[in-house]
Amino acid sequence: MTDGKNNHGFRRGLTNYGDRDFSIYLRRSFASSMGYSREMLDKPIVGICHSASGFNNCHRHFPEMIDAVKRGVLAAGALPVEFPTISLGEVFLNPTSLKFRNLMSMDVEEMIRAQPMDSVVLLGGCDKTVPAQLMGAASADLPAVQLVAGPMSTGRHKGERLGACTDCRRFWARYRAGGVDREEIDVIEQRLASTAGTCAVMGTASTMASLAEALGMMPANSAAIPAVDADRLRIAEETGRLAVSLIGKDHLRPSMIMTAKAFENALRVLLALGGSTNAIIHLTAVAGRLGIPVDLHRLNELSDTTPVLVDLKPTGTGYMEDFHAAGGIPAVLRELQHLLHLDCVTVTGETLGDRIAQTADWVDRSIIKAFNEPVRENGGLVALFGNVAPRGAILKRSAADPALFEKQGRAVVFESLEDLAARIDDPALDVEPGDIMVLKNAGPNSPAAMPEAGYLPIPAKLAKAGVKDMVRISDARMSGTAYGTIVLHITPDAASGGPLSVVRNGDVLRISVKKREIELLVSAEELSRRLSQQGVVTPTPEARGYAKLYQQEILQADEGCDFGFLRG
Ligand code: FES
Repeated sequence: MTDGKNNHGFRRGLTNYGDRDFSIYLRRSFASSMGYSREMLDKPIVGICHSASGFNNCHRHFPEMIDAVKRGVLAAGALPVEFPTISLGEVFLNPTSLKFRNLMSMDVEEMIRAQPMDSVVLLGGCDKTVPAQLMGAASADLPAVQLVAGPMSTGRHKGERLGACTDCRRFWARYRAGGVDREEIDVIEQRLASTAGTCAVMGTASTMASLAEALGMMPANSAAIPAVDADRLRIAEETGRLAVSLIGKDHLRPSMIMTAKAFENALRVLLALGGSTNAIIHLTAVAGRLGIPVDLHRLNELSDTTPVLVDLKPTGTGYMEDFHAAGGIPAVLRELQHLLHLDCVTVTGETLGDRIAQTADWVDRSIIKAFNEPVRENGGLVALFGNVAPRGAILKRSAADPALFEKQGRAVVFESLEDLAARIDDPALDVEPGDIMVLKNAGPNSPAAMPEAGYLPIPAKLAKAGVKDMVRISDARMSGTAYGTIVLHITPDAASGGPLSVVRNGDVLRISVKKREIELLVSAEELSRRLSQQGVVTPTPEARGYAKLYQQEILQADEGCDFGFLRG
């Protein structure tokens, strides 16, 4: 096409100088300085929005993946233009990556809106990056397709397979209990994460990749391809082609794909995977951008009728590379199809039903079970409600000990993360295996910004005595790679004055998974007396910048920990 004949590519969203033709002339002139021919400058543009960073080990192969996406875009006749956004490398951020997810989502949204592109490939992977990209893309609502890093391959230690980061925790627990010495833990440290890609188990990154596929935002069977496999590059190339085919297709915008029915499908898949608790927060946040509520009572209804089908760590035995070889998400969708909304449209234009009909029917039953012979008869996650969590809390029952599902115990309370760190291994700590450990002030409104600290360590003296699990409750989150009888996301959180804030050492708590309850066993009068006596909690105001915005705008877990002004 020639000057003045199109409104795509570099002609979109012009910089405003008060003279449209001058804006086009100037932009083309500057774009030409990057060596583009006239022919290229006239093509539609596919943006490649990625989160490569020296502070993100999971994304270290992105340069190769971006090349493959570009190949696909060029072959399909458009111009690929990559652009970085901030990255969220899970273990490199203080206080926790969740604090910056909304910042990244704003970066993604605004750069998609502000820069000239006709469709966009979202390339992410590490835990918070895919949610941030889906949130941003939902808000920008330009045709978009998700591509992920793919999982790491496993390592080996003394004949055992190792995968970040369930095995990180397993060996660290052994080290704390005295079963592994310092020399060996140093060797293991080098072997836990040895390739590019996201954590090797069904943690948050793998769960979110799987849910992006279940939502219809990715090509079929692309969530679990290992990061180092040639198929990962082939799917990147295909994603580039797909992004070109999306140009001008308003009926395939994110808001048309990520519908209320699609989110219900994603919740079913989450439950069947025994996936990460974090995914509830992220799905709620993405859905919230489109004005779609995710109700924890509905989660419980779905959980009652959706079995766990996948035998992967942290709840089972396999790794993501096994899951891909076993049939991946298409095999899970096939088992669940009678429960899914098959008319949901996906980014390829097919319906979910079309996709399922086209998938091969081979499956490795050691990893992906048949619907009527599941790993567990009901879903991996369950929401609990009660006087200590009026707006809900989450338990990953597939990673918990069923012997602790109906449990009453004495509260051993830690007022904050600092208090926990200071006392958990104190030999004088008054704690018994039957107690319920409580962590406060680790929720979204706390200065800690809801870190993955809900996996409270078993106190050293009990760990050394062989105690492997205890009921632990908090307003924090937990890594998707962790396990244990751990109640998370208590809402409202303690820092916002929720009832958790008035639980005292020595109180009695009761959880009942059967009844979906979590209760502090004090009278309603006593609870309201305590709440009225604690007064208004006023955290020290943040002085400036993003921390100030976060403090002013952060919502609770049942609203996805998004910012109020970003929701649809
Ligand atoms: Fe990136 Fe686990 S650290 S996915």
